[in-house]
Amino acid sequence: MTDQPLLCVNGVSKFYGNRIGCQDVGLELWLGEVLAIVGESGSGKTTLLNCISTRLPPTAGTVSYRMRDGQMRDLYRMGEAERRFLMRTDWGFVHQNPADGLRMSVSAGANVGERLMAVGERHYGNIRETAEDWLGRVEIGLDRIDDQPRDFSGGMRQRLQIARNLVTVPRLVFMDEPTGGLDVSVQARLLDLLRGLVNDLGLAVVVVTHDLAVARLLSHRIMVMKDGAVVETGLTDRVLDDPREPYTQLLVSSILQV
Ligand SMILES: Nc1ncnc2c1ncn2[C@@H]1O[C@H](COP(=O)(O)OP(=O)(O)O)[C@@H](O)[C@H]1O
Ligand SMILES: [Mg+2]
Repeated sequence: MTDQPLLCVNGVSKFYGNRIGCQDVGLELWLGEVLAIVGESGSGKTTLLNCISTRLPPTAGTVSYRMRDGQMRDLYRMGEAERRFLMRTDWGFVHQNPADGLRMSVSAGANVGERLMAVGERHYGNIRETAEDWLGRVEIGLDRIDDQPRDFSGGMRQRLQIARNLVTVPRLVFMDEPTGGLDVSVQARLLDLLRGLVNDLGLAVVVVTHDLAVARLLSHRIMVMKDGAVVETGLTDRVLDDPREPYTQLLVSSILQV
């Protein structure tokens, strides 16, 4: 059943009163594919990401997802319990601000471990072992496993949030400006780590970023947004090296300060 996309978005619009959040957006995402949504601040990236990840009901349009049994399901027609189960097991969501995706006052190990418990793992030894493995994979020393993320640096918190999201091996991960709040030196290292994990796990990812370097490094395909609408999509190298739309040309030539 891999002849169907994993995620199918059709005619999605979101209005905040009479302000446009995003307008008539369609996209398909395939298993193992990384799509970057780029555009300047206020272009509708976060609105769209929230609409397709069921965090914000769109004003119009549909979002469907291919379940593990192969069935395409309309996410906004799914029951709340089933949708929550899907979000917990098959999906991840990496927030720009790690505090939004972590429990700041429980230990690093528990932040990772409780995700496993949420998908049914009950054996303490296995949970601890898997949590240790994942802390290692995101380069957090095992001597920090019992510390709380509020005592961590921004970069460490973000790496912990990534471990918490990936420990259940989701098929689809949404990321909103995952390197956005970090120092430039920390960003590069995190991006490298993220790219390795996405490749190793064969994840499908929708990543929102205003930073074209992030899109270049992580994504296979790019969607460019302006004023809530899609202006151009294509393979990442094609869009960045040979942009067709005047707006994308401006964006790429950094004339636009985004
Ligand atoms: N909760 C909200 N209420 C009203 N307007 C909003 C809200 N969130 C976003 N917007 C507006 O929707 C547009 C798109 O915003 P957003 O999706 O946050 O863009 P981006 O993530 O690309 O910066 C902007 O004009 C923004 O002001
Ligand atoms: Mg945003």
